[in-house]
Amino acid sequence: MNDSVFDTIRDIDDLPTLPSVAMEVMSLSRKPDVSIKSISECIYQDPSLAAMVLKMANSAFYRRGSGAIDTLHRAILMIGLNEIINITTSVSILSIFPPGDGQDESVRRMFWNHCIATGLIARHIDKKLAMKSMGREFVGGLLHDIGKIVLDQYFHDEFEEARAFSIDVDCPMHEAEQEVLGTTHMEIGHFLAEKWNLPGYLADINLHHHHPSAAQFKDITSLISIADLLAKAREFSFGGDRMSFVLADQEAWHILKQMGYPVHFLDLERFTFEIESIGDEVKSYIGALSETDARESANE
Ligand SMILES: [Fe+2]
Ligand SMILES: [Fe+2]
Repeated sequence: MNDSVFDTIRDIDDLPTLPSVAMEVMSLSRKPDVSIKSISECIYQDPSLAAMVLKMANSAFYRRGSGAIDTLHRAILMIGLNEIINITTSVSILSIFPPGDGQDESVRRMFWNHCIATGLIARHIDKKLAMKSMGREFVGGLLHDIGKIVLDQYFHDEFEEARAFSIDVDCPMHEAEQEVLGTTHMEIGHFLAEKWNLPGYLADINLHHHHPSAAQFKDITSLISIADLLAKAREFSFGGDRMSFVLADQEAWHILKQMGYPVHFLDLERFTFEIESIGDEVKSYIGALSETDARESANE
């Protein structure tokens, strides 16, 4: 394979882009004094997105108590601003890279299962270590491998070749990508995050989640790095990468330990037991998202 995959992708004029409302919501969420009113007004600018966010807020995954959540204002009050930002990002990203969009549907589903599992596991670790990432950990998990989907979309055969290579040679997927495509999903994901003008921590997570010591946002990138490994260990793997690992040997583990986080709370055996339910949580989240999709297209 040639070494110009990165240049080719960089030069594609019609690379998918996040809906402008989702980008605006993300940038509003960075403001310390953001109000419920400004976030809900922003989402209402895109009525179909607003409808999908409301449907998701009413799904079994989020629904708390009785009574339908019929406005975004109420949704934010009921399930929290960070969760609404998470939903907006999830719904938007799945709308531009839908499962089964011309590619093998089960492979695309595996990809999203891995990303959602990484986000949900990151949320558990965040709580456990009191990292207070404020929802950024879920979005980070959801988007950490976004470069893979672009490689799969535009260089499908070569990406499949890299997947097969990583399994045959038993090497990490990014090494197989470098070998076959001359670039990695980290480089492509970082490029995309910058092109979409996503917050700096997301560009950083994309580029450094396999080697967080080089990251600028070391804590959240290390958090995603560990969540990514645990997602794979929980069988939510995509593209080779089913390697065994020792948590305490990981770069990310040492970084978090050095930063003073109580990583001993992540005793692997106990913690994997605690996140045993993550499979059901992922299924429930995916189920809620696809129900949102189905009802949305039924309304068209
Ligand atoms: Fe990755
Ligand atoms: Fe990953």
